[in-house]
Amino acid sequence: MKFLVHTYGCQMNVRDSEAVEALMIAAGHEKVESEAEAELVIVNSCTVRQKAEDKAVGKTGYLCSTGKMTGLMGCAVKRLGADVFKVLPKLDFAVGPRAFGMIPRIVASNPHHVLELGDDLVPEGLDAHEVKGFQAFVTVLVGCDNRCSYCIVPDVRGHEYSRPEDEIAAEVESLVRNGVKEVCLLGQSVLRYGARDGKKDAFPHLLERLCQIPGLERIRFTSAHPSGCTDELLRIYRTYPQVCRHLHLPVQSGSDRILKEMGRRYTREEYLKAVRKLRDFDPEFALTTDIIVGYPGETDEDFEATRSLMEEAGFDNSFVFKYSPRPGTRSAKLPDDVSKEEKERRNQVLLADQEARGLARNRKLVGTVREVMAEGPSKRNKARFSGRDGGNRIVVWEGEAVPGTIVPLRIVDAHAQILIGETI
Ligand code: 5AD
Ligand code: SF4
Repeated sequence: MKFLVHTYGCQMNVRDSEAVEALMIAAGHEKVESEAEAELVIVNSCTVRQKAEDKAVGKTGYLCSTGKMTGLMGCAVKRLGADVFKVLPKLDFAVGPRAFGMIPRIVASNPHHVLELGDDLVPEGLDAHEVKGFQAFVTVLVGCDNRCSYCIVPDVRGHEYSRPEDEIAAEVESLVRNGVKEVCLLGQSVLRYGARDGKKDAFPHLLERLCQIPGLERIRFTSAHPSGCTDELLRIYRTYPQVCRHLHLPVQSGSDRILKEMGRRYTREEYLKAVRKLRDFDPEFALTTDIIVGYPGETDEDFEATRSLMEEAGFDNSFVFKYSPRPGTRSAKLPDDVSKEEKERRNQVLLADQEARGLARNRKLVGTVREVMAEGPSKRNKARFSGRDGGNRIVVWEGEAVPGTIVPLRIVDAHAQILIGETI
């Protein structure tokens, strides 16, 4: 069949969709670029906030009405369960986030209302790739054993399962043989790799093993929790230049009271200690974060604490989300008492703060030389080339390079989200 996968949500979902594409191609199906051409469309859904779920479900409803075979995969399926066919009566099949490996078999069975929730399965097909360029995502840990009060992810993605180190190494070696230069290792709380199996520092050790692979020039990973910023991880940063000096370290709030209610298992000070550890090691270490505004009971004072934490941490970039109660989570039992307008106001304040902070931080890099991995012509200005430094900062310059090669560039100008470079 001619098929297409539409993806909503996080990088995990991007990766799962790619695996589904590879599995479908291996089963003899043909991936097409446009919806009009497709005989089968699969929507990979998110449910982290209600809006995310509504978007994916809305799109799926529309696709069902076109008469094409339609499937839904991902987090919203697990949340909706058998109700998915009440919401989407014309849907042909639905698979949970750990069951995407079953899709080719389901498609072959000419499905009608087939549901595979997948529970806590060891997912199949995790290593299926359709290599398209020099960058690849590699899932190392699925599921999440944290129980943050607001988060639906543990309910929908299930318990943590860390893939065996040998399997991951073999996958990365094969990617590198196929031209990949940069991998991004994925896990909801990726530094917990191996933790459920009682292994200490399993993640730094996995990194060290991957650093032995010749031709693999860059290793990134996401997302992190401050408890994983161990001395052993610092040793890996210090020893291996391939390991990019960037962490996405979601903090969610700067108020100790809210952090406690959220069950984040760190205080503001403990979080900032992890930040100082990384920045003492390398002042240019890039840090990005996620923030939730309008958590139940969040006062102006709590919000100001978040603002000041963000300034102290000096985030290079941040993603701000308005609190959305998710069914079945602990915080859903609390009144969602910060008004829509106030959530929006707090969101805007943090975005403006970040814009100013990002600009100030980027300006400090003017005059420095960054090692930039070339990606391709800049999207905004095709006459320029674009790439990223180790800190995941976008750098554009006048010139050209082979995508996937590393070019040293001198930074001559800075914007909040972009650095301007010059070849040396
Ligand atoms: N409401 C708003 N944002 C949320 N996130 C997770 N759950 C919720 C929720 N219920 C945000 C967190 C997380 C990011 C992926 O999504 O900031 O880090
Ligand atoms: Fe990713 Fe969470 Fe959305 Fe699932 S619910 S797609 S894990 S962000």
